[in-house]
Amino acid sequence: MRDPKRVGILISGRGSNMRALVEKASGYEIALVASNKSDAAGLKWARARGVETWSLESKGVGKEDYDRLLSKALEERSIGTVALAGFMRILSPWFVEEWRGRIVNIHPSLLPKYRGLDTHARAIEARDALSGCSVHIVTEELDAGEVLGQAEVAIEPGDTPQSLEERVLAAEHELYPRVLSKFANR
Ligand code: GRF
Repeated sequence: MRDPKRVGILISGRGSNMRALVEKASGYEIALVASNKSDAAGLKWARARGVETWSLESKGVGKEDYDRLLSKALEERSIGTVALAGFMRILSPWFVEEWRGRIVNIHPSLLPKYRGLDTHARAIEARDALSGCSVHIVTEELDAGEVLGQAEVAIEPGDTPQSLEERVLAAEHELYPRVLSKFANR
């Protein structure tokens, strides 16, 4: 049985959002942290916290085969919600279908603005007054699914992509656990 309150987090790197989701877990439980990079810094942190981890390098494994193994790992733990947190791999259409409506992601822009990469540089370049972050449902189309929640961050004069990223990241760490808690219980 898939329990929406049991969450599997997918990461590829430092995992600061994953840490926020673990530390601020309320109304949901982190049942697994999974990664396509066995040396992802976030895995070590999760393990030290007693959170179960799973990793499998994607090199040499077919895309859908990989996603079927990942899905099995989630299924075996009765996970019902998948939270992407810096997972740098496009999920196969098979996986998106299998977990339709149950995958969420955090993106560092006020969607529908700036899908894809380099969001902070693009917002500064466009002289936007506001940036921010969005939690959305994952569909086949990149960063295009239903937006579940957003937080705004003002762009200050003299901001660089790095300085803006820092403030948006802090906002992400507040937003994601709050929205995930609502989503897992809706
Ligand atoms: C964050 O900026 C998030 O919005 C984006 O990828 C980055 C992940 O950072 N999807 P972290 O691994 O959570 O620190």
